[in-house]
Amino acid sequence: MIINKINQLLNNSKFSSDERKELIEIFKRISYDESEEELLRLLGIVAGKAFIGPAYFHLDISNNCNMNCSYCWFHSKTASDRKYTDKWKKQQIKLNVFKKLVDDLHELKTGLILFSGAGEPLIHPKIIEMVDYVKRNGIILQLFTNALLLDENYAKKLVDANLDEIYCSISAANINTYRKLHPPSRKNEFETIERNIMFLSKYKKKQNKTNPKIIIIEVINSLNYDEALEMVGWAKKVGANAIRFQLMHNIKLKHLMLNQKEREEFKKNLDKVKNLAKKYNIKIQENINVQIETFDSKSGDWEIDFYKKKGCFAGWYFSRYWVSDGISFCCAHKIVDSLENKRFKNIWNSDKYNKMRVIARDGNVKRNIKMVDGNSLLDEECNHCGNYDLNRAAYEKLKTYGLLKFI
Ligand SMILES: C[S@@+](CC[C@H](N)C(=O)[O-])C[C@H]1O[C@@H](n2cnc3c(N)ncnc32)[C@H](O)[C@@H]1O
Ligand code: SF4
Repeated sequence: MIINKINQLLNNSKFSSDERKELIEIFKRISYDESEEELLRLLGIVAGKAFIGPAYFHLDISNNCNMNCSYCWFHSKTASDRKYTDKWKKQQIKLNVFKKLVDDLHELKTGLILFSGAGEPLIHPKIIEMVDYVKRNGIILQLFTNALLLDENYAKKLVDANLDEIYCSISAANINTYRKLHPPSRKNEFETIERNIMFLSKYKKKQNKTNPKIIIIEVINSLNYDEALEMVGWAKKVGANAIRFQLMHNIKLKHLMLNQKEREEFKKNLDKVKNLAKKYNIKIQENINVQIETFDSKSGDWEIDFYKKKGCFAGWYFSRYWVSDGISFCCAHKIVDSLENKRFKNIWNSDKYNKMRVIARDGNVKRNIKMVDGNSLLDEECNHCGNYDLNRAAYEKLKTYGLLKFI
């Protein structure tokens, strides 16, 4: 079935008949290892078009937050940016916009939505209804939260609504570090989030459920890089399933980003951290390996120039909705179009989006274009890309399957 569809799509393509034959042979061969959705995505990369929706969609829920984490891009008091005004903070997704967006993602066969954004998703009064809506559409759902509002009532509702994964951003292993990184945290805040996550873990077990998987996010910076082992102990204590370490990046807070010595120490400790995690049956997400291996301590960047050397494939795998601005090409602020009076499916399938995805795929800075918000499609943001793992994976597949020569 899928090979017939690929055949049809190739018939209307730029390829010669010999190239088409070769491509069909490749796709027949790899169809045993890849899902239909992935085959269509790989074909899209080669043909320079989108034949299916993004694999992942980052959906911003609210700009407002109940915290001011010191390292946060949007709410840090020490790195505050005038563009994040009180008016901006009040913005949150409207339920009708949300439902149309999810309907489109369902139609486009998007596999996974993540609720996160510039603020705290649990602040939105309709958050449970939104979780429920995504799950009733059969899409995998991840929710990012600082876990402060994750009380017993919310925990029960999220388990009952079949949320798949909850990412709790903590970035500390003890109350002292927590308070340093979350000023002006009230006295019992750390105990509250600890109690919240423990309850969630116990409640899901009581319901005989394994979901939501609980993943602790530790944003690694100069105040907590030496606590990684302790973080594993804390994750076990609260009943988490996994930890995601990610390097802090905020150009306005250079003193909080790791320097060379701190990176070396963190890296040296990683094997011990992984061993302890294994003993406790806690998964360490793979992402940290790339970040730590390619980290540049002068700029705090990673995967520098990857897009120029190997390409960016976010145009096929990823898209984001920013509450204040609309649809963005990637997790950075690169606005393709507003969602006011427009449907996502039309934006995603537009010539404009296609042009951008081909320029990014080719890392073609000569054809670089300005986005609606004035930012460039390819810029310095690409040197600390949030999609490094999916870009690497896509490139490796294209190379292994012999598809690079068709691009
Ligand atoms: C902006 S927050 C929004 C969702 C929610 N409020 C939370 O904290 O999970 C999304 C994620 O970005 C992370 N984050 C914020 N600032 C960061 C930075 N400067 N570097 C790396 N990660 C950061 C947070 O820890 C969180 O995991
Ligand atoms: S909880 Fe999330 S959005 Fe709020 S300040 Fe912290 S990192 Fe930023």
